[in-house]
Amino acid sequence: MPAKILLADDDPMLQKLIANTLKLEHHEVIVAVNGQEALDLIRSEKPDLVILDIMMPVINGFDVCTELRRHPETETLPVIMLSGLGQVQEKIMGLRAGADEYLTKPIDPRELLTRVEMLLERHRILRQSAVGKTGRVLSVLGAKGGVGVTTLAVNLAARLVQEKKNVILLEFRPDFGTVAVHFNLKPTASLAALRTLEPTAITEQMVNRLLVKTETGVRVLCGPQSAGEFGPFAPGLGGALLGRLVTMCDYVIVDLPPLLDEAAELVLKSSEQVFLVIEPELTSVVAAAHRLEQLAALSNTLTTRVIAVNRQGVMLLSLREIENRLGVVLLDVLPSAADAMSVAVQFGVPLTLSQSKHVYSEHVAELAKQLEQSKASALRSRSL
Ligand SMILES: Nc1ncnc2c1ncn2[C@@H]1O[C@H](COP(=O)(O)OP(=O)(O)O)[C@@H](O)[C@H]1O
Ligand SMILES: [Mg+2]
Repeated sequence: MPAKILLADDDPMLQKLIANTLKLEHHEVIVAVNGQEALDLIRSEKPDLVILDIMMPVINGFDVCTELRRHPETETLPVIMLSGLGQVQEKIMGLRAGADEYLTKPIDPRELLTRVEMLLERHRILRQSAVGKTGRVLSVLGAKGGVGVTTLAVNLAARLVQEKKNVILLEFRPDFGTVAVHFNLKPTASLAALRTLEPTAITEQMVNRLLVKTETGVRVLCGPQSAGEFGPFAPGLGGALLGRLVTMCDYVIVDLPPLLDEAAELVLKSSEQVFLVIEPELTSVVAAAHRLEQLAALSNTLTTRVIAVNRQGVMLLSLREIENRLGVVLLDVLPSAADAMSVAVQFGVPLTLSQSKHVYSEHVAELAKQLEQSKASALRSRSL
């Protein structure tokens, strides 16, 4: 199977030899001439395997490898190290830095190719066996539009990362997405790239290329970014995409639009929990009652929790009245954070990070904690 391979070596002769060898087997080769460039290209190009020379300008191969192992998205990336010296000490350092293989120059192209193929295959098998460790899917949905769904999804994702979770935020909407604004991102690719694909065409590599790693550590798959990208999703997209995403993280947080088309319904069916967001006022509560019916009809394994966001800082309906009308106990009422929220958005840093002591942030932190606990109890009941 052809793969995308990053080759980091400052020797033009060796570059040519290795690149030609790999290309003969139809691999795509990207070349970096120093360690910094290698790191940058690994981040932007997301190769399947890396070949690293040790002696390179700017950052040496050991440090590049150490750096790769420090980040969740590259900690298992296959790395082959090339050394000019072949001393045992150097080899040990390479393996300590986290290299999977170690080759001494002069390089025999056939040996290199065999190692590349073996390593790619081993990695494929490893990843398949990791499938059992699936991430949890939490969808955030509004009773209607503009109630604070995206804000909650963004802040919850950021908070979970602080709790050392590996989190992907999926903005599953067919029209303009605002998640990018919350993180001050200008993504060059969005979910629109997958819009009309057959479910089987959605590979992990493709998904990886669309994910943007934010400075907060949350990885996001942004909704469409321009009017030209708007349009309905193929119904199968939601299920296929989530099937991929859950193998890549601990949590997938989905920001859903108010209109539930077939694709969004399938996302909900693949979710473990839904946070249904309302405002403490009548129209939103009436809409929420319909939503609850809609969700109950959709799936009987889905846990729905209702959360009110008191954006205006006034409870136009009392908590008791809301709960009576909906026949559920609210999970929480998130406090108003108008000014702080607009500052956070302007700076592109979620409130849970920029002002972790804000009451809104404290409520979100508590929600994150409860999510973790609900997992523990779900696991316990399964093992009973
Ligand atoms: N707790 C809050 N207090 C005050 N304003 C809020 C709060 N949560 C969200 N908002 C504001 O409400 C508006 C709509 O929020 P958004 O999350 O985009 O809603 P939705 O995704 O439901 O359309 C935004 O301007 C946002 O800053
Ligand atoms: Mg929104």
